[in-house]
Amino acid sequence: MTDVPEARDRFAGYDAAPRAPWDIGRPQPAFVAAADRIAGRVLDAGCGTGDLAIWLADHGRAVTGVDFLAGPLAAARTKAVAAGVAVNFLEMDALAIGEIPERFDAVCDCGLFHTFDDARRSAYVAALARLLEPGAHVFLLCMSEAEPGTHGPRRVSESELRAAFAAGWVVESVEPARFEVVPGIPGAEFTPGGARSLFAVVRRA
Ligand SMILES: C[S@@+](CC[C@H](N)C(=O)[O-])C[C@H]1O[C@@H](n2cnc3c(N)ncnc32)[C@H](O)[C@@H]1O
Repeated sequence: MTDVPEARDRFAGYDAAPRAPWDIGRPQPAFVAAADRIAGRVLDAGCGTGDLAIWLADHGRAVTGVDFLAGPLAAARTKAVAAGVAVNFLEMDALAIGEIPERFDAVCDCGLFHTFDDARRSAYVAALARLLEPGAHVFLLCMSEAEPGTHGPRRVSESELRAAFAAGWVVESVEPARFEVVPGIPGAEFTPGGARSLFAVVRRA
């Protein structure tokens, strides 16, 4: 299974806009708060323009960033050069990350999981399972069902998260969090302070 062309078109549309709602220019606070636990070799899945990947690299992690769009990756590479850090940015479908031969201690998913339909959600978790060895972690921020409305990404419940990672994983924690967005973008108005979200920490069993 691969990504769908509609998804590429949708994200390419955001990329062509002056600013995507999630592109806040810094890592989401939920990841900064968890940074002590995000150790070693890290893969940022759906890295966008790279703020989290670059921040982690600047804080000593060996980071690979993956996105299926060339535009955000070009911006990410420019930012990494400006920041003076090395990040291995790869243009690829996140559903294929199981084929990456390199080993990782952690995957960060900031707003990717919640883009998938049910079938691709399963395929993505299977790819994570192929990529990660026992003891490695997934840190995942997704929009929660507590966020009102239906605009923007798919809402995810805690039980859906736990079901997605039921077999072969240990869900260490699922906590309420916020997904900060760029203010003032029409159609991307969420709860003040950031869209209500869930931050999950999951370990490969
Ligand atoms: C909501 S954005 C979040 C970007 C970034 N993580 C951030 O927080 O700023 C989701 C990102 O995932 C990428 N993406 C969506 N589906 C993907 C897929 N199947 N494979 C790789 N990247 C994907 C999009 O191009 C976009 O950059």
